[in-house]
Amino acid sequence: MKKKLIVLIFCGFCLVAFQIHNTIVFKEPLKWPKANYDFLKNPLSAQKIELGRALFYEPMLSRNNTISCASCHSQYTAFTHVDHDLSHGIDDRIGTRNSPALMNLAWHKVFMWDGAVNHLDVQALAPISHPDEMDEKIENVIIKLQKTKIYPNLFKNAFGDSLITGENTLKAISQFMLTLVSANSKYDSVMRKQTTFTLQEKNGYSLFKKNCSSCHKEPLFTNLEFENNGLPLDKDLKDVGRMKVTKNSKDSIKFKVPTLRNIEFSYPYMHDGRFKRLSDVLKHYTEKVQQGPSLSKQLLNPIVLTSNEKVDLIAFLLTLTDKEFIFNPKFSYPKKIFSTTPQE
Ligand code: HEC
Ligand code: HEC
Repeated sequence: MKKKLIVLIFCGFCLVAFQIHNTIVFKEPLKWPKANYDFLKNPLSAQKIELGRALFYEPMLSRNNTISCASCHSQYTAFTHVDHDLSHGIDDRIGTRNSPALMNLAWHKVFMWDGAVNHLDVQALAPISHPDEMDEKIENVIIKLQKTKIYPNLFKNAFGDSLITGENTLKAISQFMLTLVSANSKYDSVMRKQTTFTLQEKNGYSLFKKNCSSCHKEPLFTNLEFENNGLPLDKDLKDVGRMKVTKNSKDSIKFKVPTLRNIEFSYPYMHDGRFKRLSDVLKHYTEKVQQGPSLSKQLLNPIVLTSNEKVDLIAFLLTLTDKEFIFNPKFSYPKKIFSTTPQE
């Protein structure tokens, strides 16, 4: 009898352990560098990713339950806020920077345009507590989530405990963001030799490798460094970028190099959204690069492009569009979770 009980308890334990620890292994796309995120400290599981997805779309993360992460990071624009130069948050307050597109974050070492945040697992605290973004305290978020019908269950499925904690909330949000991998554009198919570039795209690719790829490095299309790409300082915003964090004048007007994947959708461009079109961006690089002590050395010599070459370069940039990413149902609003169980 005793033996049977022990076996029963043991089996029960195994079942729970299996449910909790059915980890998903993060796979880097072929020939990509190794991801930077330490998955051993936050092993991926389907339940945690699903919880993170719900939290990403959850307006309860904001003071008055109106703003979710997705308000400023919308899937259809590669998880940026399309058409907004500066981000719009709670009570229609306007921030000071353009919301960056979110993808391939597992490779990033630091976050934000100036690298002010050094780990993905704490990144979400910044928008949650920012007075112009969600203006809420994580303690309140937890109280609100705990009172719902759905979240204690989702946390139990994910972490084996229906008691919601800040740490688990942040880890789950990270998990969802880590799954946002964009690696299936036409460019990627060409690299895999499954298709070919048109002549125009091919020429654009050569121009890109000559003029742009030292900073927008393949395959992520960012070298993940801070660079000054010659934009004049905005007189009103006076955003000095990386120097805000390091206080070193060498870093003045340096910003984290953004990826160019899905660039077709993530306009307006630059840290303050000052350019609407890719042609404006190329006009900047060919005619308006401002010299200065912190200008990145790659731009010391002017970039010269004929108008035909500009057209070709843009044709290449459009091959970085990844429709599978933009329309991936796994990344969209989790209708099923939110509709099957009433939230209150
Ligand atoms: C009001 C708009 C707004 C909301 C809401 C918002 N963000 Fe952001 N997000 C931004 C802006 C603007 C930045 C750039 C901030 C900076 O550089 O200082 C940013 C930056 C980020 C980054 C860094 C990306 C990179 O490449 O470095 C991540 C990750 C991110 N947000 C995730 C989230 C998550 C998760 C939430 C919800 C908890 C969220 N955001 C809510 C506007 C928003
Ligand atoms: C010296 C490094 C460097 C070089 C070379 C460079 N860029 Fe950039 N690029 C950056 C940085 C840094 C930013 C962000 C600047 C900011 O927001 O203030 C940026 C931003 C962009 C953006 C806006 C992305 C977004 O999401 O807002 C585009 C598009 C772009 N670059 C295209 C190009 C093209 C095309 C070339 C070649 C003609 C090029 N870049 C060359 C560093 C570089």
